Amino acid sequence: RIAGPSGLVIFGVTGDLSRKKLMPAIYDLANRGLLPPGFSLVGFARRDWADEDFAQVVHDAVEQHSRTPFREEVWQQLAEGMRFIPGDFADDTAFERLRVTIEELDKAQGTGGNFAFYLSVPPKFFPTVVEQLKQHGLSDAPAGSWRRAVIEKPFGHDLASAKELNAIVHEVFAPDEVFRIDHYLGKETVQNILAVRFANTMFEPIWNRSFVDHVQITMAEDIGIGGRAGYYDGIGAARDVIQNHLLQLLALTAMEEPSGFDAPSLVTEKLKVFKAVDLPEDLGASTVRAQYSAGWQGGEKVIGYLQEDGIDQQSKTDTYAAIKLEVNNRRWAGVPFYLRTGKRLGRRVTEIAVVFQRAPHSPFDSSATAELGQNALVIRVQPDEGVTVRFGSKVPGTSMELRDVTMDFAYGESFTESSPEAYERLILDVLLGDANLFPRTEEVEESWRILDPIEEYWRRHGTPAQYPAGTWGPEEADEMLARDGRSWRRP
Ligand code: BG6
Repeated sequence: RIAGPSGLVIFGVTGDLSRKKLMPAIYDLANRGLLPPGFSLVGFARRDWADEDFAQVVHDAVEQHSRTPFREEVWQQLAEGMRFIPGDFADDTAFERLRVTIEELDKAQGTGGNFAFYLSVPPKFFPTVVEQLKQHGLSDAPAGSWRRAVIEKPFGHDLASAKELNAIVHEVFAPDEVFRIDHYLGKETVQNILAVRFANTMFEPIWNRSFVDHVQITMAEDIGIGGRAGYYDGIGAARDVIQNHLLQLLALTAMEEPSGFDAPSLVTEKLKVFKAVDLPEDLGASTVRAQYSAGWQGGEKVIGYLQEDGIDQQSKTDTYAAIKLEVNNRRWAGVPFYLRTGKRLGRRVTEIAVVFQRAPHSPFDSSATAELGQNALVIRVQPDEGVTVRFGSKVPGTSMELRDVTMDFAYGESFTESSPEAYERLILDVLLGDANLFPRTEEVEESWRILDPIEEYWRRHGTPAQYPAGTWGPEEADEMLARDGRSWRRP
């Protein structure tokens, strides 16, 4: 899988994402030999940069953030295809320069007219950029070549705004020309969910309501909001990551076997899950939102959310969210899916825990099983990538006593191959036109349909709970599970 002749134009190239993820990913792809020799990278932003200044910025980003060793010859070749277009999104002359630059690159670098436009910009700029691409004939692929749009989240902030954005984008680009990034789908461990489930026989027979007690999907971060107040405040944890990353994890965990491993088959099955998702009636009892207050993290004192730079003192934005969902179909009816995420939690960990029912009958004394938990299969998405199976075992000794033990698969021990970074995989797929790992319009809209009533409920009722930074979230979240006779895992 090596990309053919092509180039990438990044709008918003001075942003954090571009420096930390996109530029290093492009270099790493080149370093692994996965990009075509004349690959071209065009930056577009409101800076007074020449091509060389842009190349220097990319160079610094690569030095700081790339995962593969720096090799001068790879860099030199990549740098030959780098161009910068200074300009405002509303500036016609800048887009005209972009058009001319692309034509020149086609000749000089052999990009063959194949270009992807990466919108790494806030959604309020989507309409302008997309319209400009159309006005300047950039969205129309010359005969025999392709043009694609890559869109970063957030795809709107609710169902209505997502529909508006989708309509605007689809006026210019056909559905199969639009690649929406949910970088969780680019993670190796997330792709492995379907491999574990459908390439084996031993998991799927018990992957249903007859054996599963409940599912917990956790995405915990130790970082705060850093310099992202402008984006984060008013958006919050649920919109930032539940609407996309966590609901995608839920879909992959709950879906039926797709008829093939291709985009249409995958979308079909994911959509069936989203459509089967119902919210419990009492949203007060089945959702929790909270904000971090000052606390300790990694031995350092850290400030609370309301003290962060640029945050409104009255802000009700959630930095922690936990919700309970039902997937009402034959496989999952009655099995709760608990989703939680938060900033400034105990540590960084993302995992999916499928927790099984207790044995229907135990021949052992109750004292022997006092310490026994429930069986669980835990997909460790990050950082300690792998899969754990937890089950009960006899404690060595002269009496019958049972305790939980684990069986582990760890990537580092089983594979010598290294995992590409999510953005590497996704950028390569864009250039190859492979849409398997990209959510489609309908999925995005269904995810908002699920989240909208929760956000609306939160807007109308009360204020967020508090949790000290460095803890595992607010007491209210523990109480939410305790009411169901369950508890959160402490990963
Ligand atoms: C992004 C969110 O989508 O994912 C961020 O906007 C979050 O708030 C990030 O920090 C986490 O990504 P990862 O890959 O580090 O888990």
